[in-house]
Amino acid sequence: MRKKVTVVGAGNVGATTAQRLFERGYMDIVLVDVVEGIPQGKALDIAESGPVLGIDASIVGTNSYAETAGSDIVVVTAGIARKPGMSRDDLLFTNMKIVGSVVQEAIKHSPGAHIIVVSNPLDAMVQHAYGVAKFPKNRVVGMAGVLDTARFRTFLAWELGVSVKEVQAYVLGGHGDQMVPLTHYTSVGGVTLAEMVKQGMLTQERLDAVIKRTQTGGGEIVNLLKTGSAFYAPSAATAEMVDAILLDQKRLLPCAALLEGEYGIKGIYMGVPVILGVNGIEKVLELKLTDSEAALLKKSADAVHELVEAMKKAPAA
Ligand code: LAC
Repeated sequence: MRKKVTVVGAGNVGATTAQRLFERGYMDIVLVDVVEGIPQGKALDIAESGPVLGIDASIVGTNSYAETAGSDIVVVTAGIARKPGMSRDDLLFTNMKIVGSVVQEAIKHSPGAHIIVVSNPLDAMVQHAYGVAKFPKNRVVGMAGVLDTARFRTFLAWELGVSVKEVQAYVLGGHGDQMVPLTHYTSVGGVTLAEMVKQGMLTQERLDAVIKRTQTGGGEIVNLLKTGSAFYAPSAATAEMVDAILLDQKRLLPCAALLEGEYGIKGIYMGVPVILGVNGIEKVLELKLTDSEAALLKKSADAVHELVEAMKKAPAA
């Protein structure tokens, strides 16, 4: 039997994630949305690409959760997206309601699933999903660090004129403008950024500009699209996490994980390097940070904490 993945939300992020996963070929997919016809239509369209691509996996679209039963992973992308001028935090109460009800429904049919949350504001939404699902913390994880790191790697590769494949990097913290790119854990084919600066490949000024662009990378796309937010890179990042879990790859990826004292932070979800495998978050790695990185991480955690506190005062549904 093939693995089974449910993607909730048939908007740009959800549908593109479903497409990327379908094209892997080794899992069946259920695409769920409340809007009638949209998940059915998009799933049918993706299914009809199967003969061209040589893919036999199944993909179905539905408005109900019955078809999702027994999923190995539930990917939650449901919620509204930002418009220009909005921060991810502006979505808090609306998406909290949506994510809460989606998780409640999904877990009834897939009590053993992993949950990957993609909806924004990411760290608060994954924390909410964890609270609603009451699953062990290793089975509830948030996607953001892989995306933020992908942006950092893209801009660095462009700046250095090297292949994106050479750039390894980590971006930690909340998925907001206060995320923390870790420059001394970033390397280019194993060569440190400090050495790249010494070699004249990069200036500190350009590096600072790359960091700034990474931190505001989501907003840059929103401002260009005007009617929504990014989805190609977010779906690629989500699909990489699905692979890591289903194929037990033990990838070392930055993901939103529940912190219980790691990095001096307790009780909130935030982006940290984790080992992602068949048991979900198998380990949180505690990297040694410089004083300034630790201070930035604390600031980022404070911003997430504020949202988590705000959720407690959410207007009744
Ligand atoms: C971004 C949104 C999806 O970073 O959070 O593009």
